[in-house]
Amino acid sequence: MIKLCKFESTDISKLLEWIPDARFLLQWAGPKYIFPLNRDQLMMELDGTKGHQPSHFMFKSIYTADKKTVGHIELMAVDYNKRTARLGRVLIGPNEMRSKGYGNQMIHDALKFGFEILNLNEIDLGVFDFNSSAIKCYQKIGFRKYEIRQNARKIQ
Ligand SMILES: CC(C)(COP(=O)(O)OP(=O)(O)OC[C@H]1O[C@@H](n2cnc3c(N)ncnc32)[C@H](O)[C@@H]1OP(=O)(O)O)[C@@H](O)C(=O)NCCC(=O)NCCS
Repeated sequence: MIKLCKFESTDISKLLEWIPDARFLLQWAGPKYIFPLNRDQLMMELDGTKGHQPSHFMFKSIYTADKKTVGHIELMAVDYNKRTARLGRVLIGPNEMRSKGYGNQMIHDALKFGFEILNLNEIDLGVFDFNSSAIKCYQKIGFRKYEIRQNARKIQ
């Protein structure tokens, strides 16, 4: 079993271990971060999660049997008036932990937080068309395709 916990500055080094190259960084997080991802970029991101009604929530996912961190997920662009948000930066870090249902469980927990704790109405996400394992995972949970953007990003 895994469980969601707040992502803290002490979790940064573990997350950095899971980002091997620029392509993976873009696939995982979109264009905001610059490769190599570093502590400063993540500390700036963490700043945006502070205060009353933050628009951004960062979580890690802990494997309960040994308390090791195995995943990461975020709720971004939370709009408390429109009651919308975007799910993103979904990652099961260690390769050997993938395809065991933990991604599915982590996404469920993040959606539950968004819908039940933040009382949101709608949560969407973006994913590259080549990322077929993530797309299957999202579809299995219930996400449906509603927009396709051609040539959305360029990798250097
Ligand atoms: C996307 C990701 C989080 C999925 O997590 P996961 O723990 O591997 O996924 P799960 O084991 O929960 O799988 C859920 C469903 O996704 C699909 N899936 C997962 N891995 C798959 C793979 N390698 N090939 C095909 N389908 C796959 C399956 O439909 C699976 O359902 P099933 O178990 O009934 O077959 C993980 O693969 C990952 O970290 N990828 C790298 C980072 C990334 O690209 N994130 C997405 C950014 S948008």
